[in-house]
Amino acid sequence: MNLLRSALHGSVLLVAPLLVSLAVSAAQTPTHSAPAPAKQNGTAAPKSYPPALVESGGSLFRQDCSFCHGRDAGGGESGPDLTRSKLVTEDVDGDKIGAVVRNGRPDKGMPHFDFSERQILGLTAFIHSQQNTAITKKGGRKGVDVSDLQTGNAEAGKQYFDGAGGCATCHSPTGDLAGIASRYQGLELEEQMLYPKHAKSRVTVTLAAGQTITGTLDYLDEFTVGLIDPTGSYRSWRTSDVQYKVDAPVTAHADLLSKYTDADIHNLMAYLQTLR
Ligand code: HEC
Ligand code: HEC
Repeated sequence: MNLLRSALHGSVLLVAPLLVSLAVSAAQTPTHSAPAPAKQNGTAAPKSYPPALVESGGSLFRQDCSFCHGRDAGGGESGPDLTRSKLVTEDVDGDKIGAVVRNGRPDKGMPHFDFSERQILGLTAFIHSQQNTAITKKGGRKGVDVSDLQTGNAEAGKQYFDGAGGCATCHSPTGDLAGIASRYQGLELEEQMLYPKHAKSRVTVTLAAGQTITGTLDYLDEFTVGLIDPTGSYRSWRTSDVQYKVDAPVTAHADLLSKYTDADIHNLMAYLQTLR
């Protein structure tokens, strides 16, 4: 469990699936019901699952798995990309995924979870549908190559920043983003744009008696939630005693950016790279 703690401690809740998630979520709008594409190596038959099942699995995934495996199962800092996993490709209705989830791989940093049959099937449906999406997406291309970063048009990026992109409503090229290209280069800059790592998450804790406390998330694992309250004091509770809701600005930022096309992103990158 140490990995889980360190993955969560301090910084924001969601360890960035970064570029991968951009590409995957851009392709995500579809098609639970569309015919699934052929799997790479012809093992398990491609299958599409009922949308409601995929959806319930998706929300469970985001709650319990995404901080290691990425929001879209495309991999995070502490968990592998499940859309490229051979085990997932070979899985049939959870026979392999279920075993990993129930037993975990404690020595490798994968915790175990006590989930019902139904929950496992939901997770399985979600992970398979993410894999199908990732495979369909432009012949399996995921993420953005470093060379792609040089293909944008800075002038178009500036217009987008000031206009349709809405970036200027929160940012200024001479204010908070001044010199951004000197602070981060290339992919690192793009990652920072997609998942601003240093942004603090807010958390609201509701005590059993109904009182709520909102503050900056400071610590979270499966047992403990801790925050810095408005007076600057650290307070923490057992997760089993309270309800809590984390509001991560990084997630909102990524959601926002994933609406834009690849060309928009490339132009924005070209523009940001002029801010030295
Ligand atoms: C604390 C981080 C963490 C969390 C939380 C986590 N995993 Fe993992 N998971 C890992 C790591 C690390 C591995 C790789 C283990 C290894 O190298 O054998 C892994 C491996 C896997 C694998 C096997 C992939 C393969 O190709 O062998 C599956 C499937 C999986 N996780 C699913 C899940 C699901 C579903 C959840 C949520 C219920 C979840 N994981 C939660 C860290 C995590
Ligand atoms: C609703 C407000 C909002 C909008 C709109 C917005 N951002 Fe952000 N952005 C943020 C916040 C909050 C952060 C985190 C700030 C921090 O870490 O100090 C951030 C961080 C960033 C960072 C990293 C800054 C750093 O110093 O590390 C970049 C780059 C960035 N945004 C680019 C963009 C671009 C490009 C757009 C438009 C496509 C955009 N943002 C739209 C709120 C917004």
